[in-house]
Amino acid sequence: MTKIGIIGAMDEEIEILKDFMIMEDTKNIAGMNFYIGKLKNKEIILVRSGIGKVNAAVCTQILVSNFNVSHIINTGVAGAVHEDLEIGDIVISSDVIEHDFDATGFGYKLGEIPRMDTYIFKADEEMINIAYEASKCETIMHSTKVGRILSGDIFVASPDKKELLWNIFKGYCTEMEGASIGHTSYLNNIPFVIIRSISDKADGTAHINFNEFVLQAARNSSNIVMNIIENI
Ligand code: ADE
Repeated sequence: MTKIGIIGAMDEEIEILKDFMIMEDTKNIAGMNFYIGKLKNKEIILVRSGIGKVNAAVCTQILVSNFNVSHIINTGVAGAVHEDLEIGDIVISSDVIEHDFDATGFGYKLGEIPRMDTYIFKADEEMINIAYEASKCETIMHSTKVGRILSGDIFVASPDKKELLWNIFKGYCTEMEGASIGHTSYLNNIPFVIIRSISDKADGTAHINFNEFVLQAARNSSNIVMNIIENI
């Protein structure tokens, strides 16, 4: 049976979906409120994970182990790495990488996770396609790209770091949770997709842009998630 786990890291990233959902119950586990109910007639569990890879990984595992979700969607905002992305634009994950995983001292590539069969976690093809179609609706005024999303426990706010992320990984945008959600979904064999809307350009003005555009970007991403849910 379809039961969709939806994760946003911050209040701003889940509040629109929370307003639209028909709430049946709430459970608090590991300090996170899991909102149980229906959205667009689909069973969903909506949760604010908190910021960063550990919070997001713990949250994803709870969705799998305690709530038995069949699909996982991460919604939120991100800093642009691809030069063609503007504030408000959408990135749908083709795959995700933890860009701050660094075992280069052992001769591994940056991002590579020692003794795992992969460090590039692929989003579900069907969910990507549904998300792409969902992004074409008239309420989404911005362009959509399908591409690699990078995550790290770093708020990227420098042109040098941004250039490095593009040169090394060819990541389209960077945030702080998606890859750990992808990683945890991969370990549990659960299909996932990450939807992010651009709040800033991950450069020297990132913190200013973030504060100004976080709500608008979070709204764009939430709108797409609502359209996705209808079609899963
Ligand atoms: N989320 C939104 N913008 C970000 C940035 N520049 N770095 C990391 N996470 C972000």
